[in-house]
Amino acid sequence: MKTEFCKIGALAQGRAPDASDAEILDRAAEILRSGGLVAFPTETVYGLGANALDAEAAKKIYAAKGRPSDNPLIIHIANVADADKYCYTNELYACLAERFLPGPLTVILKKRDVIPLTVTGGLDTVAVRLPSDPTARELIRRAGIPIAAPSANRSGKPSPTKAEHVLEDMDGRIEMIIDGGECQIGLESTIVSISDGHLNLLRPGGITVEMLEDICPVSIDKAVTEKLSDGERPLAPGMKYRHYAPDTKVVLLDGSDAEVADYIKRNAPNGKIGLILSDNDAHLAAGTGAELLTYGDGDIDEAHRLFALLREVDRLGCDVIYARLPDKKGIGLAVYNRILKAAGYEILRLG
Ligand code: TXA
Ligand code: MG
Repeated sequence: MKTEFCKIGALAQGRAPDASDAEILDRAAEILRSGGLVAFPTETVYGLGANALDAEAAKKIYAAKGRPSDNPLIIHIANVADADKYCYTNELYACLAERFLPGPLTVILKKRDVIPLTVTGGLDTVAVRLPSDPTARELIRRAGIPIAAPSANRSGKPSPTKAEHVLEDMDGRIEMIIDGGECQIGLESTIVSISDGHLNLLRPGGITVEMLEDICPVSIDKAVTEKLSDGERPLAPGMKYRHYAPDTKVVLLDGSDAEVADYIKRNAPNGKIGLILSDNDAHLAAGTGAELLTYGDGDIDEAHRLFALLREVDRLGCDVIYARLPDKKGIGLAVYNRILKAAGYEILRLG
């Protein structure tokens, strides 16, 4: 299959869609309605879309990603009220929607029959998301159907934050990639389960625990911060899979500036080492000869750059990559969760 690569202009820059944008989006909408696959930008990461009402179309997503069929998809809708067509909403949904939607929050509720079990991995619940990205919203609106879309990476790879990442993973496997530039947030949406009226956090993201606690009490699924033992299951099936991991071994260092600097100095002569550090921490590697990838500064930059850096890591040809254990406050919890998985839960406590 030939994959078309189409660049969105005006809409991606915050203006009304111009004629070229409209032509691309109408063509993409038609591909989706007729059962094909289109990758599109959202404010979190790129999604790999198919008609969420069509089981056959959804099966193509699992095939293109190499994704296990028990790992359910998120359906993307065009406005808050549409959720009611696909699931049984409740008061908590209304509160969350009022405060956070459109935005990087996915809500899990009991599904209605129109949503095929193929989309939900056999579950009786469905994950619903109303993205804020203008290109995503315009595409869903023009398609006139809910769009099932996981992140547009091959299973196991970091989620794509640029259209070029999608092309790397999906060229020849899908009909179209819409290039809307770099994703604003860079990590996938926050996922909460609210079907019983209580809020359970399944995956941390741009809507933080602190923000959610303003609305109601939050329980955090153990899988967010800890490796589960063999018998345990995360509430989000996808959280059990090896994810976000480069081929190069990643190890997290937990220690003070001095301890981290000392550890890097002692280990640099043992092989080719790489480091993922914030700009502020870059001096800790001075004079060691280690390959250095930097995040920028602060948790927002870390979230924004993490996946792109994890895709670069293997190109360095290092024996091992070290990164610091992130702080769990705010969006830091999402960075912590993703990098912990990239490191296969390996933390070196230096103190
Ligand atoms: O930001 C995002 O959420 C991106 C963009 C494209 O919207 N999408 C995304 O989808 O990250 P995906 O498929 O990569 O991750 C969806 C996660 C998986 O861990 C899946 O197991 C979980 O959501 N999930 C989906 N439906 C669920 C359900 N009914 N119950 C529990 N977990 C569910
Ligand atoms: Mg994913």
